[in-house]
Amino acid sequence: MSKQQQAPAKKPRVCVTGGAGKLGKVCVQDLLAHGYDVFVLDTVPAAKDVPHMVVDLADFGQTLDALSSVGQEIYAGVQNQAFDAVVHLAAIPAPRQYSDAHTFQNNIMGTYNVFEASRRLGIRNVVWASSETTLGEPFENDAPYAPVDEDYPLRAKSAYALAKVLMEDMARQFCYQTPDFKLIGLRFSNVMEPQDYEKFASYQADPELRKWNMWAYIDARDGAQAIRKAVEWQATGMHAFIIANADTVMEKPSAELLREALPGVEVRKELAGHETLLSIDKARKELGYEPTHTWRDKANWQ
Ligand SMILES: NC(=O)c1ccc[n+]([C@@H]2O[C@H](COP(=O)([O-])OP(=O)(O)OC[C@H]3O[C@@H](n4cnc5c(N)ncnc54)[C@H](O)[C@@H]3O)[C@@H](O)[C@H]2O)c1
Repeated sequence: MSKQQQAPAKKPRVCVTGGAGKLGKVCVQDLLAHGYDVFVLDTVPAAKDVPHMVVDLADFGQTLDALSSVGQEIYAGVQNQAFDAVVHLAAIPAPRQYSDAHTFQNNIMGTYNVFEASRRLGIRNVVWASSETTLGEPFENDAPYAPVDEDYPLRAKSAYALAKVLMEDMARQFCYQTPDFKLIGLRFSNVMEPQDYEKFASYQADPELRKWNMWAYIDARDGAQAIRKAVEWQATGMHAFIIANADTVMEKPSAELLREALPGVEVRKELAGHETLLSIDKARKELGYEPTHTWRDKANWQ
């Protein structure tokens, strides 16, 4: 084939579960903008023009069918057409929206099914949404230290958090079974969209209101950046990263917040200004993640 006749390079194909949701829809747009071919799996249809399939991932048969498809076609083992990566965001995203047992069952089975179907289909690159709740939220004076980092003991205080903690251990076990598997758990902070920033003013008078997650947040656009960088990161095995913005939701400096609202918590470093108390040092260093959307800049409110 001459140079002019060469087929265009195949776009990497990524399946995004939960791609109709708050973080998922921003992740889908980010991946599309960066040259990926995206297919969404969700219990509700994705945005117009985004190829998708409506499936319940808590059901293994549906998960295997969906992950072995190419758009609406059946994949049937055709080389070059399988998904290059799966971004698994589908879940009930918080405690007590549904009964605990239902949340646990939906989230843990959905994740097992996505991991296992990926393993069987030869997909070796999976990034999934873990959560800051694995770190012992709501934080009280018994928090081991601050800033919180990846050396923190995992402590689940809800059925939702328990499922997220167990997903991390499950991922580790999958990697023992399948050593060339890459499973990245992103422990997202509380996801914010631009329209959420208006309510930040109401947090300022009372540090108690957002002490539960040490005043952290993640702009969905920065969350999407972290997902893309995790997809592109070359590694095998299970790895977890805290993903937050570089600052807090508060105008009061971080050192003062800790002193006033969590006085029993050991502070392990000198804190600069509004520095996040959910450390993103590991994500910065390993993934090259660098948040760019602080709520302090009104340009980011749209
Ligand atoms: N929102 C937050 O503050 C936050 C914080 C940390 C982690 N997370 C995690 O990030 C991920 C995305 O959260 P979000 O805020 O975008 O939530 P969301 O509810 O907006 O989106 C989740 C999507 O998953 C889909 N879904 C749920 N169960 C499913 C199933 N069984 N099969 C197929 N689809 C299913 C829902 O239909 C929804 O579209 C979740 O895993 C959540 O636990 C969210």
